[in-house]
Amino acid sequence: MLSEVLLVSAPGKVILHGEHAVVHGKVALAVALNLRTFLRLQPHSDGKVSLNLPNIGIKQDWDVARLQLLDTSFLEQGDIAAPTPEQMEKLKEVAGVPENCAVTERLAVLAFLYLYLAICRKRRALPSLDIVVWSELPTGAGLGSSAAYSVCLSAALLTACEEIQNPLKDGARVSRWPKEDLELINKWAFQGEKVIHGNPSGVDNAISTWGGALRYQQGKISSLKRLPALQILLTNTKVPRSTKALVAGVKNRLIKFPEIVAPLLTSIDAIALECERMLGEMALAPALEQYVVLEELIDMNQHHLNALGVGHAALDRLCQVTMAHGLHSKLTGAGGGGCGITLLRPDLEQEEVEATKQALTGCGFDCWETSLGGPGVSMHSAASLNGPVQQALGCF
Ligand code: MEV
Repeated sequence: MLSEVLLVSAPGKVILHGEHAVVHGKVALAVALNLRTFLRLQPHSDGKVSLNLPNIGIKQDWDVARLQLLDTSFLEQGDIAAPTPEQMEKLKEVAGVPENCAVTERLAVLAFLYLYLAICRKRRALPSLDIVVWSELPTGAGLGSSAAYSVCLSAALLTACEEIQNPLKDGARVSRWPKEDLELINKWAFQGEKVIHGNPSGVDNAISTWGGALRYQQGKISSLKRLPALQILLTNTKVPRSTKALVAGVKNRLIKFPEIVAPLLTSIDAIALECERMLGEMALAPALEQYVVLEELIDMNQHHLNALGVGHAALDRLCQVTMAHGLHSKLTGAGGGGCGITLLRPDLEQEEVEATKQALTGCGFDCWETSLGGPGVSMHSAASLNGPVQQALGCF
Protein backbone atom coordinates (compact mmCIF):
# COMPACT_ATOMS: atom_id res chain seq x y z
CA MET A 1 0.00 0.00 0.00
CA LEU A 2 1.41 3.38 -0.99
CA SER A 3 1.79 5.89 1.82
CA GLU A 4 1.93 9.04 -0.29
CA VAL A 5 -0.83 11.53 -1.09
CA LEU A 6 -2.18 11.05 -4.63
CA LEU A 7 -3.64 13.85 -6.74
CA VAL A 8 -5.53 12.65 -9.78
CA SER A 9 -7.63 14.45 -12.38
CA ALA A 10 -9.82 13.33 -15.28
CA PRO A 11 -11.69 15.35 -17.91
CA GLY A 12 -15.36 15.69 -18.73
CA LYS A 13 -16.43 15.24 -22.32
CA VAL A 14 -18.73 16.32 -25.07
CA ILE A 15 -20.22 13.89 -27.54
CA LEU A 16 -20.06 15.44 -31.00
CA HIS A 17 -22.33 12.80 -32.51
CA GLY A 18 -23.66 9.38 -31.56
CA GLU A 19 -25.20 9.80 -28.09
CA HIS A 20 -27.96 7.21 -27.51
CA ALA A 21 -27.19 5.47 -30.83
CA VAL A 22 -23.94 4.29 -29.19
CA VAL A 23 -25.96 2.38 -26.56
CA HIS A 24 -27.37 0.37 -29.51
CA GLY A 25 -24.01 -0.48 -31.04
CA LYS A 26 -23.52 2.57 -33.29
CA VAL A 27 -20.49 4.87 -33.50
CA ALA A 28 -20.01 7.83 -31.15
CA LEU A 29 -17.44 10.60 -31.51
CA ALA A 30 -16.40 11.94 -28.13
CA VAL A 31 -13.97 14.70 -27.24
CA ALA A 32 -12.40 15.50 -23.85
CA LEU A 33 -13.16 18.90 -22.34
CA ASN A 34 -10.83 21.26 -20.57
CA LEU A 35 -13.13 21.06 -17.51
CA ARG A 36 -11.92 18.42 -15.07
CA THR A 37 -12.64 16.49 -11.88
CA PHE A 38 -9.87 16.37 -9.24
CA LEU A 39 -9.30 13.80 -6.51
CA ARG A 40 -7.00 13.78 -3.50
CA LEU A 41 -6.34 10.46 -1.80
CA GLN A 42 -4.53 10.53 1.52
CA PRO A 43 -3.61 7.33 3.37
CA HIS A 44 -4.54 7.49 7.06
CA SER A 45 -4.06 5.57 10.25
CA ASP A 46 -7.34 6.52 11.93
CA GLY A 47 -9.09 3.27 10.97
CA LYS A 48 -11.60 5.03 8.75
CA VAL A 49 -12.25 5.43 5.06
CA SER A 50 -13.84 8.78 4.37
CA LEU A 51 -15.41 10.29 1.27
CA ASN A 52 -15.88 14.02 0.85
CA LEU A 53 -17.71 15.31 -2.26
CA PRO A 54 -18.06 19.07 -1.66
CA ASN A 55 -19.93 19.70 -4.96
CA ILE A 56 -22.88 17.58 -3.86
CA GLY A 57 -22.58 17.97 -0.09
CA ILE A 58 -21.51 14.42 0.75
CA LYS A 59 -19.25 13.77 3.73
CA GLN A 60 -19.36 10.25 5.00
CA ASP A 61 -17.01 7.80 6.65
CA TRP A 62 -16.98 4.12 7.46
CA ASP A 63 -14.99 2.07 10.00
CA VAL A 64 -12.49 0.03 8.06
CA ALA A 65 -12.65 -2.70 10.75
CA ARG A 66 -16.41 -2.98 10.23
CA LEU A 67 -16.04 -3.09 6.45
CA GLN A 68 -13.29 -5.69 6.89
CA LEU A 69 -15.72 -7.97 8.74
CA LEU A 70 -18.22 -7.80 5.90
CA ASP A 71 -18.54 -10.78 3.70
CA THR A 72 -17.41 -9.16 0.45
CA SER A 73 -17.36 -12.46 -1.37
CA PHE A 74 -20.42 -11.03 -3.12
CA LEU A 75 -17.85 -9.00 -5.07
CA GLU A 76 -15.94 -12.14 -6.03
CA GLN A 77 -16.52 -12.51 -9.73
CA GLY A 78 -13.13 -13.68 -10.94
CA ASP A 79 -12.70 -11.09 -13.64
CA ILE A 80 -13.88 -7.50 -13.44
CA ALA A 81 -17.64 -7.82 -13.72
CA ALA A 82 -20.68 -5.58 -13.59
CA PRO A 83 -22.35 -5.30 -10.19
CA THR A 84 -25.43 -7.50 -10.03
CA PRO A 85 -28.76 -6.27 -8.55
CA GLU A 86 -28.06 -8.45 -5.47
CA GLN A 87 -24.64 -6.82 -5.03
CA MET A 88 -26.27 -3.42 -5.32
CA GLU A 89 -28.73 -4.32 -2.54
CA LYS A 90 -25.87 -5.45 -0.28
CA LEU A 91 -23.88 -2.32 -1.06
CA LYS A 92 -26.86 -0.18 -0.05
CA GLU A 93 -26.93 -1.94 3.34
CA VAL A 94 -23.19 -1.38 3.81
CA ALA A 95 -23.31 2.26 2.66
CA GLY A 96 -25.83 3.36 5.25
CA VAL A 97 -26.69 6.44 3.17
CA PRO A 98 -29.39 8.50 4.94
CA GLU A 99 -32.93 7.83 3.63
CA ASN A 100 -33.46 11.46 2.64
CA CYS A 101 -30.35 11.47 0.41
CA ALA A 102 -31.10 12.31 -3.27
CA VAL A 103 -30.49 9.71 -5.97
CA THR A 104 -27.32 11.30 -7.45
CA GLU A 105 -25.69 11.52 -4.04
CA ARG A 106 -26.70 7.99 -3.10
CA LEU A 107 -25.32 6.58 -6.38
CA ALA A 108 -22.03 8.48 -5.99
CA VAL A 109 -21.54 6.88 -2.56
CA LEU A 110 -22.47 3.42 -3.86
CA ALA A 111 -20.06 3.72 -6.80
CA PHE A 112 -17.29 4.71 -4.39
CA LEU A 113 -17.94 1.83 -2.03
CA TYR A 114 -18.19 -0.62 -4.89
CA LEU A 115 -14.82 0.46 -6.32
CA TYR A 116 -13.15 0.70 -2.88
CA LEU A 117 -14.27 -2.75 -1.76
CA ALA A 118 -13.78 -4.45 -5.12
CA ILE A 119 -10.31 -2.98 -5.81
CA CYS A 120 -8.90 -2.92 -2.26
CA ARG A 121 -10.24 -6.29 -1.06
CA LYS A 122 -7.36 -8.00 -2.85
CA ARG A 123 -5.09 -6.62 -0.12
CA ARG A 124 -4.87 -8.41 3.24
CA ALA A 125 -6.33 -5.40 5.06
CA LEU A 126 -8.61 -2.72 3.65
CA PRO A 127 -6.76 0.61 3.69
CA SER A 128 -7.69 3.59 5.82
CA LEU A 129 -8.04 6.49 3.38
CA ASP A 130 -9.27 10.03 3.19
CA ILE A 131 -10.68 10.87 -0.26
CA VAL A 132 -11.87 14.26 -1.54
CA VAL A 133 -13.30 14.67 -5.04
CA TRP A 134 -14.06 18.11 -6.43
CA SER A 135 -15.16 18.98 -9.95
CA GLU A 136 -15.28 21.89 -12.36
CA LEU A 137 -18.04 19.99 -14.16
CA PRO A 138 -21.72 20.55 -13.43
CA THR A 139 -23.37 17.29 -12.31
CA GLY A 140 -26.06 15.62 -14.38
CA ALA A 141 -25.62 18.01 -17.32
CA GLY A 142 -24.34 15.59 -19.96
CA LEU A 143 -20.66 16.51 -19.61
CA GLY A 144 -19.54 13.17 -18.19
CA SER A 145 -19.18 14.20 -14.55
CA SER A 146 -20.01 10.71 -13.25
CA ALA A 147 -17.52 9.09 -15.64
CA ALA A 148 -14.75 11.52 -14.61
CA TYR A 149 -15.58 10.66 -10.97
CA SER A 150 -15.38 6.91 -11.61
CA VAL A 151 -12.15 7.31 -13.61
CA CYS A 152 -10.50 9.37 -10.86
CA LEU A 153 -11.56 6.85 -8.18
CA SER A 154 -10.37 3.84 -10.19
CA ALA A 155 -7.02 5.43 -11.03
CA ALA A 156 -6.38 6.54 -7.44
CA LEU A 157 -7.49 3.29 -5.76
CA LEU A 158 -5.60 1.07 -8.23
CA THR A 159 -2.47 3.17 -7.68
CA ALA A 160 -2.84 3.29 -3.88
CA CYS A 161 -3.25 -0.52 -3.82
CA GLU A 162 -0.22 -0.90 -6.11
CA GLU A 163 -2.21 -2.67 -8.80
CA ILE A 164 -0.66 -0.08 -11.12
CA GLN A 165 2.39 2.12 -10.57
CA ASN A 166 2.33 5.78 -9.68
CA PRO A 167 3.37 7.34 -13.01
CA LEU A 168 4.58 10.61 -11.44
CA LYS A 169 8.34 10.74 -11.80
CA ASP A 170 10.53 12.81 -9.45
CA GLY A 171 10.21 16.48 -10.29
CA ALA A 172 7.40 15.97 -12.85
CA ARG A 173 4.30 18.13 -12.55
CA VAL A 174 1.86 15.88 -14.40
CA SER A 175 2.21 12.31 -15.69
CA ARG A 176 -0.01 9.74 -17.36
CA TRP A 177 -0.13 5.95 -17.00
CA PRO A 178 1.01 3.55 -19.72
CA LYS A 179 -1.57 1.98 -22.06
CA GLU A 180 -2.11 -1.29 -20.09
CA ASP A 181 -2.73 0.66 -16.88
CA LEU A 182 -5.16 3.00 -18.65
CA GLU A 183 -7.03 -0.06 -19.90
CA LEU A 184 -7.37 -1.35 -16.33
CA ILE A 185 -8.47 2.08 -15.06
CA ASN A 186 -11.05 2.25 -17.85
CA LYS A 187 -12.41 -1.23 -17.09
CA TRP A 188 -12.95 -0.44 -13.42
CA ALA A 189 -14.37 3.00 -14.20
CA PHE A 190 -16.90 1.31 -16.49
CA GLN A 191 -18.10 -0.75 -13.52
CA GLY A 192 -18.43 2.43 -11.46
CA GLU A 193 -20.47 3.94 -14.30
CA LYS A 194 -22.72 0.86 -14.29
CA VAL A 195 -23.44 1.40 -10.60
CA ILE A 196 -24.48 4.97 -11.41
CA HIS A 197 -26.21 4.59 -14.80
CA GLY A 198 -27.32 0.98 -15.07
CA ASN A 199 -26.53 0.29 -18.72
CA PRO A 200 -24.00 2.81 -20.06
CA SER A 201 -22.27 2.29 -23.41
CA GLY A 202 -18.82 2.97 -21.91
CA VAL A 203 -18.05 5.96 -24.12
CA ASP A 204 -17.97 8.48 -21.25
CA ASN A 205 -15.41 6.59 -19.12
CA ALA A 206 -13.34 5.82 -22.23
CA ILE A 207 -12.94 9.46 -23.25
CA SER A 208 -12.27 10.51 -19.64
CA THR A 209 -9.54 7.86 -19.41
CA TRP A 210 -7.89 8.39 -22.79
CA GLY A 211 -8.58 12.09 -23.39
CA GLY A 212 -8.19 13.75 -26.79
CA ALA A 213 -10.85 12.73 -29.29
CA LEU A 214 -12.04 9.24 -29.97
CA ARG A 215 -14.39 7.07 -31.93
CA TYR A 216 -16.19 4.53 -29.78
CA GLN A 217 -18.23 1.55 -30.88
CA GLN A 218 -19.19 -1.46 -28.75
CA GLY A 219 -16.17 -1.13 -26.48
CA LYS A 220 -13.79 -0.58 -29.42
CA ILE A 221 -11.88 2.63 -28.94
CA SER A 222 -9.77 4.39 -31.55
CA SER A 223 -8.20 7.80 -31.15
CA LEU A 224 -8.88 10.42 -33.79
CA LYS A 225 -5.29 11.15 -34.70
CA ARG A 226 -6.04 14.35 -36.52
CA LEU A 227 -8.34 16.83 -34.87
CA PRO A 228 -8.69 20.40 -36.12
CA ALA A 229 -8.64 23.08 -33.40
CA LEU A 230 -12.43 23.27 -32.95
CA GLN A 231 -13.90 26.02 -30.80
CA ILE A 232 -17.32 25.49 -29.33
CA LEU A 233 -19.78 27.23 -27.11
CA LEU A 234 -20.92 24.96 -24.33
CA THR A 235 -24.29 25.86 -22.86
CA ASN A 236 -25.86 24.40 -19.75
CA THR A 237 -29.65 24.81 -19.82
CA LYS A 238 -29.59 23.82 -16.12
CA VAL A 239 -32.63 21.62 -16.70
CA PRO A 240 -31.98 18.51 -14.56
CA ARG A 241 -32.46 15.10 -16.05
CA SER A 242 -31.57 11.45 -15.57
CA THR A 243 -29.32 9.71 -18.11
CA LYS A 244 -30.65 6.35 -16.94
CA ALA A 245 -34.29 7.37 -17.59
CA LEU A 246 -33.49 8.92 -20.99
CA VAL A 247 -31.54 5.85 -22.16
CA ALA A 248 -34.47 3.66 -21.04
CA GLY A 249 -36.91 5.95 -22.91
CA VAL A 250 -35.02 5.52 -26.19
CA LYS A 251 -34.96 1.74 -25.70
CA ASN A 252 -38.72 1.71 -25.15
CA ARG A 253 -39.28 3.78 -28.28
CA LEU A 254 -37.07 1.40 -30.26
CA ILE A 255 -39.09 -1.57 -28.99
CA LYS A 256 -42.39 0.18 -29.72
CA PHE A 257 -41.51 1.51 -33.20
CA PRO A 258 -38.56 -0.56 -34.46
CA GLU A 259 -39.05 0.34 -38.11
CA ILE A 260 -39.11 4.04 -37.33
CA VAL A 261 -36.44 4.27 -34.65
CA ALA A 262 -33.83 1.82 -36.04
CA PRO A 263 -33.33 3.92 -39.22
CA LEU A 264 -32.85 7.01 -37.02
CA LEU A 265 -30.04 5.23 -35.17
CA THR A 266 -28.51 4.13 -38.49
CA SER A 267 -28.67 7.70 -39.74
CA ILE A 268 -27.00 9.00 -36.56
CA ASP A 269 -24.26 6.42 -37.15
CA ALA A 270 -23.77 7.76 -40.69
CA ILE A 271 -23.65 11.33 -39.35
CA ALA A 272 -20.90 10.36 -36.89
CA LEU A 273 -18.89 8.68 -39.65
CA GLU A 274 -19.29 11.66 -41.99
CA CYS A 275 -18.21 14.01 -39.19
CA GLU A 276 -15.14 11.85 -38.52
CA ARG A 277 -14.23 11.96 -42.23
CA MET A 278 -14.73 15.71 -42.35
CA LEU A 279 -12.61 16.31 -39.21
CA GLY A 280 -9.78 14.28 -40.78
CA GLU A 281 -9.97 16.44 -43.94
CA MET A 282 -10.11 19.64 -41.92
CA ALA A 283 -7.02 18.75 -39.91
CA LEU A 284 -5.08 18.41 -43.16
CA ALA A 285 -6.47 21.35 -45.14
CA PRO A 286 -9.04 23.45 -43.28
CA ALA A 287 -11.61 25.34 -45.34
CA LEU A 288 -14.77 27.20 -44.43
CA GLU A 289 -17.00 24.89 -46.53
CA GLN A 290 -16.11 22.03 -44.17
CA TYR A 291 -17.57 23.99 -41.26
CA VAL A 292 -20.78 24.35 -43.26
CA VAL A 293 -20.92 20.54 -43.58
CA LEU A 294 -20.33 20.18 -39.82
CA GLU A 295 -23.20 22.59 -39.22
CA GLU A 296 -25.53 20.58 -41.46
CA LEU A 297 -24.60 17.39 -39.59
CA ILE A 298 -25.32 19.12 -36.28
CA ASP A 299 -28.79 20.20 -37.47
CA MET A 300 -29.72 16.77 -38.82
CA ASN A 301 -28.59 15.00 -35.65
CA GLN A 302 -30.46 17.43 -33.41
CA HIS A 303 -33.68 16.63 -35.32
CA HIS A 304 -33.03 12.90 -34.97
CA LEU A 305 -32.41 13.26 -31.24
CA ASN A 306 -35.70 15.13 -30.92
CA ALA A 307 -37.40 12.27 -32.78
CA LEU A 308 -35.86 9.82 -30.30
CA GLY A 309 -37.65 11.75 -27.54
CA VAL A 310 -34.57 13.17 -25.79
CA GLY A 311 -35.13 16.84 -26.67
CA HIS A 312 -36.42 19.52 -24.33
CA ALA A 313 -38.03 22.95 -24.73
CA ALA A 314 -34.90 24.54 -23.21
CA LEU A 315 -32.72 22.83 -25.83
CA ASP A 316 -35.08 24.04 -28.59
CA ARG A 317 -34.69 27.51 -27.19
CA LEU A 318 -30.90 27.16 -27.21
CA CYS A 319 -30.98 26.08 -30.89
CA GLN A 320 -33.32 28.97 -31.83
CA VAL A 321 -31.24 31.59 -30.02
CA THR A 322 -27.97 30.47 -31.61
CA MET A 323 -29.64 30.12 -35.03
CA ALA A 324 -30.75 33.76 -34.75
CA HIS A 325 -27.00 34.52 -34.67
CA GLY A 326 -26.31 32.19 -37.60
CA LEU A 327 -24.91 29.41 -35.39
CA HIS A 328 -25.81 25.73 -35.21
CA SER A 329 -26.33 23.71 -32.03
CA LYS A 330 -27.24 20.28 -30.80
CA LEU A 331 -27.68 18.65 -27.42
CA THR A 332 -24.71 16.71 -26.09
CA GLY A 333 -24.89 13.69 -23.79
CA ALA A 334 -28.23 12.25 -22.80
CA GLY A 335 -30.36 15.35 -23.57
CA GLY A 336 -33.70 15.98 -21.88
CA GLY A 337 -32.17 19.28 -20.71
CA GLY A 338 -28.52 19.38 -19.68
CA CYS A 339 -26.00 20.81 -22.12
CA GLY A 340 -25.82 21.74 -25.78
CA ILE A 341 -22.87 22.52 -28.05
CA THR A 342 -22.66 25.28 -30.63
CA LEU A 343 -19.98 25.21 -33.31
CA LEU A 344 -17.97 28.43 -33.59
CA ARG A 345 -16.71 28.91 -37.16
CA PRO A 346 -13.24 30.46 -37.39
CA ASP A 347 -14.60 33.37 -39.48
CA LEU A 348 -16.85 34.54 -36.63
CA GLU A 349 -16.26 37.97 -35.17
CA GLN A 350 -15.72 37.87 -31.39
CA GLU A 351 -18.53 40.45 -31.12
CA GLU A 352 -20.99 37.95 -32.60
CA VAL A 353 -19.84 35.26 -30.17
CA GLU A 354 -20.26 37.68 -27.26
CA ALA A 355 -23.76 38.67 -28.46
CA THR A 356 -24.75 34.98 -28.67
CA LYS A 357 -23.38 34.29 -25.21
CA GLN A 358 -25.29 37.25 -23.85
CA ALA A 359 -28.53 36.08 -25.47
CA LEU A 360 -28.05 32.59 -23.99
CA THR A 361 -27.24 33.95 -20.56
CA GLY A 362 -30.38 36.07 -20.89
CA CYS A 363 -32.36 32.79 -21.14
CA GLY A 364 -30.95 31.77 -17.75
CA PHE A 365 -28.36 29.40 -19.25
CA ASP A 366 -24.67 29.11 -18.29
CA CYS A 367 -22.35 29.45 -21.23
CA TRP A 368 -18.61 28.82 -21.79
CA GLU A 369 -16.40 29.19 -24.82
CA THR A 370 -14.16 26.18 -24.79
CA SER A 371 -11.62 24.25 -26.81
CA LEU A 372 -11.72 20.50 -27.20
CA GLY A 373 -9.31 17.61 -26.79
CA GLY A 374 -7.82 17.88 -23.26
CA PRO A 375 -5.58 15.15 -21.76
CA GLY A 376 -7.13 12.04 -20.17
CA VAL A 377 -6.72 10.85 -16.57
CA SER A 378 -3.50 12.24 -15.07
CA MET A 379 -1.48 12.16 -11.87
CA HIS A 380 -0.40 15.57 -10.53
CA SER A 381 2.15 17.03 -8.19
CA ALA A 382 0.56 19.48 -5.72
CA ALA A 383 2.51 22.32 -7.39
CA SER A 384 0.83 21.63 -10.76
CA LEU A 385 -2.66 22.36 -9.39
CA ASN A 386 -3.88 25.92 -9.34
CA GLY A 387 -4.88 27.67 -6.09
CA PRO A 388 -8.66 27.15 -6.33
CA VAL A 389 -8.24 23.40 -7.00
CA GLN A 390 -5.75 23.05 -4.12
CA GLN A 391 -8.15 24.88 -1.87
CA ALA A 392 -11.15 22.76 -2.92
CA LEU A 393 -9.18 19.57 -2.22
CA GLY A 394 -7.84 20.88 1.10
CA CYS A 395 -4.24 20.55 -0.08
CA PHE A 396 -2.84 23.11 2.36
C1 MEV B 1 -24.29 9.90 -22.22
O1 MEV B 1 -23.17 10.78 -22.11
C2 MEV B 1 -24.32 9.26 -23.57
C3 MEV B 1 -25.45 8.27 -23.79
O2 MEV B 1 -25.26 7.76 -25.10
C4 MEV B 1 -25.44 7.15 -22.78
C5 MEV B 1 -24.26 6.21 -22.94
O3 MEV B 1 -23.59 6.19 -23.97
O4 MEV B 1 -24.03 5.45 -21.99
C6 MEV B 1 -26.81 8.94 -23.73
